[in-house]
Amino acid sequence: MVPGSLTQDGTQAARSPGAPAEALIRIEAVHVDYPLKDGTQKKVLNGIDLIIGRGEFVAVAGQTGCGKSTLLRLVLGAEMPTKGRVLAEGREVLRPDRDRGYVPQKYSLFPDKTVIENVIFGPEVEEFNLFTRLTPRFRRRRRLFRAEALVQLRHMGLHDSDAAKYPDQLSGGMQQRVAIAQALATKPKILLMDEAFSALDPGTRAEMQALIRRVWAETGMTVLFVTHNIHEAVTLGTRVIVLSTGAGKSARGEPDQQGSMIALDVPVPQRDCRLSNAGRSEECARIIQRVESATGHSLQPDTESQ
Ligand SMILES: Nc1ncnc2c1ncn2[C@@H]1O[C@H](COP(=O)(O)OP(=O)(O)OP(=O)(O)O)[C@@H](O)[C@H]1O
Ligand SMILES: [Mg+2]
Repeated sequence: MVPGSLTQDGTQAARSPGAPAEALIRIEAVHVDYPLKDGTQKKVLNGIDLIIGRGEFVAVAGQTGCGKSTLLRLVLGAEMPTKGRVLAEGREVLRPDRDRGYVPQKYSLFPDKTVIENVIFGPEVEEFNLFTRLTPRFRRRRRLFRAEALVQLRHMGLHDSDAAKYPDQLSGGMQQRVAIAQALATKPKILLMDEAFSALDPGTRAEMQALIRRVWAETGMTVLFVTHNIHEAVTLGTRVIVLSTGAGKSARGEPDQQGSMIALDVPVPQRDCRLSNAGRSEECARIIQRVESATGHSLQPDTESQ
């Protein structure tokens, strides 16, 4: 058992300092098969077992098509496993709810709503339907939602004057700031991010990485962060998980049809892998090497911050 990794009952082994992390998400023997047009099945996930403790920042890496987004959608509740189950706080995840916020790569904002309308959309639809919107209580709550949204937007580095803008008036980085504010509007316990920074230029991406680390540290939220970028995985994550089919291609060169399993699950001591390259230790270099070898990719110096 590696220090900081999770035991079967969800406690963290040799985690110091402080108490063991409480298990928040349990992924139990999960398989996902997608039906294909020719009547056969495409196996995407093949028996995933994972326990994620409260407050962890788990980076999920792996090659294109290995099932990272599928895994995230299962935890969100937007998709159901073919076999097995996903639990959050001991309850089976059957649909998305306010406890899990989601930030995709891009295009998550409603183009016809202003920034602030985008942020308050979630809390509003959760609390009010078409009829209860006609009540004075709705107007009172709406004022509160707007006030909270403005605080959240400022926290994301946006100005009050941005609140009335439409998404197409914002840069990609600003849109992702709004998307994070939107995901945080219901005060979720779990934040799910799917390559949320991969469409951004390197400078903006670095700013967003620092922002999300700060949000994580301040809120104590549990974060599941899918990324292709190994540098991003090891510098952001307190733990890195690599999904892989392992076997690669068959002897005849056909793509593997086995589905992905967890090829690597490694804790990342934050003192070793810092956001700036300057702080990188030998231990961090070893972790990077293990992640590279599990994903089958190597970290190119010129792609480190992409
Ligand atoms: N609804 C679906 N029906 C059939 N196949 C699907 C469906 N959704 C995903 N797939 C396939 O499942 C596999 C895993 O998809 P997924 O999007 O989870 O991979 P990924 O690791 O997120 O890839 P990427 O890094 O490119 O985003 C892919 O081969 C994809 O084509
Ligand atoms: Mg994906």
